[in-house]
Amino acid sequence: MVVHRMLLALAALICVITHPIHAKHVRKCPLEPSPHDKWASEKVLEGEKNWTGCQGKYTACYDQVLSDSLKHWEDGSITKETTQNALASTRLGILYQIIDGKLYRSGGISEDKRCVFSMRCDGVEHMLHAVLDTHKERPMPNVEFVLNERDYPMITAQSEVALPVFSFSRNSRFLDIMYPNWSFFKGGPCVKTEPGCLGRWDLKIESMSRSADRYPWVEKLELAFFRGSRTSNQRDPLVLLSREHPYLAEAGYVKNQAWKSIADTLGREPAEDVSLDDHCKFKYLFNFKGVAASFRFRHLFLCGSLVFHVLSGEDDWLEFFYPGMQPWVHYIPVKPDFSDGQQLIEWAMRYDALAKVVAENGQRFIIDHLRMEDVHGYWYHLLRKYSKLLSYEPSLAADAYEV
Ligand SMILES: *[C@@H]1O[C@H](CO)[C@@H](O)[C@H](O)[C@H]1NC(C)=O
Ligand SMILES: *[C@@H]1O[C@H](CO)[C@@H](O)[C@H](O)[C@H]1NC(C)=O
Repeated sequence: MVVHRMLLALAALICVITHPIHAKHVRKCPLEPSPHDKWASEKVLEGEKNWTGCQGKYTACYDQVLSDSLKHWEDGSITKETTQNALASTRLGILYQIIDGKLYRSGGISEDKRCVFSMRCDGVEHMLHAVLDTHKERPMPNVEFVLNERDYPMITAQSEVALPVFSFSRNSRFLDIMYPNWSFFKGGPCVKTEPGCLGRWDLKIESMSRSADRYPWVEKLELAFFRGSRTSNQRDPLVLLSREHPYLAEAGYVKNQAWKSIADTLGREPAEDVSLDDHCKFKYLFNFKGVAASFRFRHLFLCGSLVFHVLSGEDDWLEFFYPGMQPWVHYIPVKPDFSDGQQLIEWAMRYDALAKVVAENGQRFIIDHLRMEDVHGYWYHLLRKYSKLLSYEPSLAADAYEV
């Protein structure tokens, strides 16, 4: 055993010495197995056994998240006053009303009811129109709801009364009802490498799927990859790992608008930007939380690479589709402090077949269950269920106008 380990170590050393040029890009040298390996492999096998899929039913992936989101209210428990209080609590929040199949907006910036971020409202409204158009045969009951168009959720879990406010992301410290981010259509973050600002998820699925085909699993670089700005220092350990062991990771901070000095990129010059499509060159892709849930997450799966999702405990930011996905089945969960990060990367390098299974599961989930029609479907079911909670028949607000 000892001799065997020494031989492995020696082989690894010789390999590193004889592959100095490749060392940075393609790590062909054997890595020493660790006790962690067995545990990680068993988790993946257990996950495979557990996972029963969404079983064909349209909303099966999202039923649980819908009922969890709405569990603070009983049928008929949301009064007109509750809605008004919810609107007042959001400051500049928007009141959307669907009345006789038409969509109306009020609230917002007081003079002309504009949204604070008009692109975001455009994105939301596009989806709501798509929902109304596709379900003409079973029209939406009249309903109204308060929408928070900002990144941060509003209603803390300690609130005395649970006010119903729709936000795109929340964690367990908030009660906000999750709706699909406007950025599925429009108004997403403006990143240098993406022409315009992010949106049109349907087109992104196509372009990234093409990129996934260009870089099949066997041709991907065996490196843990991350590019983004330093919106949270949770990302530091991977960036540091990549500086110390460039054969394991290629991770760096880019310059964003807030960049002032190399302190904002952890003491080094900013790394060059890499487009989402080009992420597909790499076998292992890392996701971290940002200000709230990161736009990156859903994109990474499209590459068919293995996604490592760094958790944040009770701070774990969710979007509506996260609860439908399972750790070890669709992605590899990494501890919030990254303490098992390196081990898990090395595990994936050693257990390539298992890593590939998880990568494919994640890609399938997103391609099969997060299509634009699923996003619209989520909105549709959310609004139907929500309409049952109202104790009153909404009537057009005095300052509402059709959008
Ligand atoms: C599998 O299911 C069991 C029982 O529900 C659960 O305790 C376990 O965490 C699951 N494992 C994985 C990897 O999903
Ligand atoms: C939602 O959109 C906002 C702003 O456009 C962006 O900052 C955020 O990253 C997006 N989040 C997701 C999960 O798409």
